[in-house]
Amino acid sequence: MRGIFIVFTLCFLASFNTVESNENPEFARKGPGTERERAIEELIRKTFREPVTFGNFSVNPGNGVLRVKQTINNMLVSGLSKAVRTVQADLKAGTIFMTYEVKRLTTHVDYELEGYCLLLPIWGKGKAVVVMDDVRVTAKATVTSQHDKIKITEMKITFDMSDGYFDLSSLFGESQPGFLTPLYVKVFNANSRYIFNEILPSYIPHSEEVLSTVWRLVLEKV
Ligand SMILES: *[C@@H]1O[C@H](CO)[C@@H](O)[C@H](O)[C@H]1NC(C)=O
Repeated sequence: MRGIFIVFTLCFLASFNTVESNENPEFARKGPGTERERAIEELIRKTFREPVTFGNFSVNPGNGVLRVKQTINNMLVSGLSKAVRTVQADLKAGTIFMTYEVKRLTTHVDYELEGYCLLLPIWGKGKAVVVMDDVRVTAKATVTSQHDKIKITEMKITFDMSDGYFDLSSLFGESQPGFLTPLYVKVFNANSRYIFNEILPSYIPHSEEVLSTVWRLVLEKV
């Protein structure tokens, strides 16, 4: 299902009304950090503007109740400029850590999907909207610095939210809104936490890849 849930993930982003907080217990470094660390933090915070666009990509079927191959095009994520973003670079420990907290995130995509929900075949293409509330994303990059160059050796993202819902134009190959798709969308939305938990993990690797690429470009500048 859905091409939805997406990589919203990629959150870092955003524009310029950043709120900062240094109280995050996950942060290892005490104090303000070096000039270079602060430069990295500032660059990462300002990397994107709204809405955030993602390259086209596909997601392989999972192993759960929903086994659906998804092709996602023209993905747009909005709401990120309102997020509270915290970034901490600790070059001594070799980590760059970011949290991103936002009340509501809205994602629009063109999707194509094919697979099974339980044993029922579903397929279709069209537009989807996904809304998620109380979203919290963390990203942790492991970095090495050599000869003044900072390299990312690993990127880990976690994603959490309190609630979400989505709308899809077609789940059963219809070209017009019919009866079955709205019915299923309703059922899915009544179980949205469950559905999101099932779908989101398959978006994490792509998100990590995208975020690594973005941070790599940022780190070339410091
Ligand atoms: C993504 O796919 C759409 C087709 O749905 C295409 O129009 C668009 O150019 C593609 N974008 C990129 C960056 O390849």
